[in-house]
Amino acid sequence: MDTLARKIEIALFFSCGARAIVAPQAGGDIRVINPYDAEVGGADSAARFQMMAQTAADAIVSADPGGTIVFWNGAAEKMFGYSADAALGQALTLLMPERYREPHRQGFARYLQSGTAHLIGGTVEVHGLTREGHEFPIELSLSVWNGTQGPCFTAIIRDISARKMIEMALQQKTAELEKANLAKDHFLARMSHELRTPLNAIIGFTGTLLMQLHGPLTHEQVAKLNTIKASAKHLLSLINDILNVAEIGSGTVALHPEPISCSDILAEVAASLRPEALKKGLLFEVAPMPQDIQVHTDRRILSQILSHLANNAIKYTEQGQVGICCNRRKENAQHYVDISISDSGIGIAPEDQRRLFQAFTQVDTSNTRRHGGVGLGLHLSRELATLIGGVIRVQSEFGRGSTFTLTLAEHLP
Ligand SMILES: Nc1ncnc2c1ncn2[C@@H]1O[C@H](COP(=O)(O)OP(=O)(O)O)[C@@H](O)[C@H]1O
Ligand SMILES: [Mg+2]
Repeated sequence: MDTLARKIEIALFFSCGARAIVAPQAGGDIRVINPYDAEVGGADSAARFQMMAQTAADAIVSADPGGTIVFWNGAAEKMFGYSADAALGQALTLLMPERYREPHRQGFARYLQSGTAHLIGGTVEVHGLTREGHEFPIELSLSVWNGTQGPCFTAIIRDISARKMIEMALQQKTAELEKANLAKDHFLARMSHELRTPLNAIIGFTGTLLMQLHGPLTHEQVAKLNTIKASAKHLLSLINDILNVAEIGSGTVALHPEPISCSDILAEVAASLRPEALKKGLLFEVAPMPQDIQVHTDRRILSQILSHLANNAIKYTEQGQVGICCNRRKENAQHYVDISISDSGIGIAPEDQRRLFQAFTQVDTSNTRRHGGVGLGLHLSRELATLIGGVIRVQSEFGRGSTFTLTLAEHLP
């Protein structure tokens, strides 16, 4: 017998004037047992039940067919502030706020007349009323059985004030956090915008100075201007990443899906990154595709993800090669496209692979500090991939190299 049923048994026993015990049976039926019957252990059993009911943490209250309180335990006394003497013989409605009283009377009358019950057998969250007139939230389980004069009712009542307060505090905190998060994203989006404008001016004017349109420059001046330009470009790419994260967070990224040829987009990404790879003396190759593979997605986002992944591959590889390949695959009647970017670089240890995609995460700060970056690229790539319905997986061997694979649904024309 579960604890609820046991509690009902105890409560019902006392509510029937210690003459009969009412035991819930499997299937919900209620059986009336004489407490002095050998079946439940006689007087010992009665004493045991009395003790358990009195010490139960939940309030146990029973009423006769007229709705008058006939049993009141210690927890009820504490919860509602009425002593047993004050509560016994009173109407059950004493324990409820005014607004519940009429519906309660109607429900009671309906049950007596037709046997139709809405609350009986279940648990509901309502409010109780203390002797001082203070309302508090309760969880109420109601049961009924047939006494000698008609149906009797037993309520097991739990004070859920503490739980409700925690729930409310949690809801409030969640709402505050959501608001703060949104405010942060708006702030970042705005700030990034404001920061980009002067940076673009710096990059642009450094460029015109380097073109020596305003007069010749010394070697040293050219070197310094190149440093300014490279730093400004680096800063701009960081700001762009932050702007992107903020945009995704605030849910304002608009998607413009279109059919895209994978060989075209891979050629574009490769063209922009090949010079960087060649500068480091790396072999940089896009594997030829036997046939054209198409995806249907946002071009700018796809290009951004692939550029991030290829950029990392070059950044974290000191010698050897970086390769890009694209394959189609069928799984469970679905056609997928895997775009993989492999390198022969430093690789990533298994324990680090799990946290790679968290924002501002860099695996080995001493190593990565040398390479620059703030650890946003992979986080952003995964967020962007999710946005276009794709996934990014990583396979890597420490010291040998890594392969990052973006999987998208294939577009079948
Ligand atoms: N191809 C790769 N090979 C080895 N390590 C990588 C590779 N790509 C990413 N990582 C590791 O994952 C970390 C997070 O990458 P990312 O989010 O792009 O940040 P960032 O490049 O700015 O450091 C990097 O700092 C690096 O430690
Ligand atoms: Mg990166």
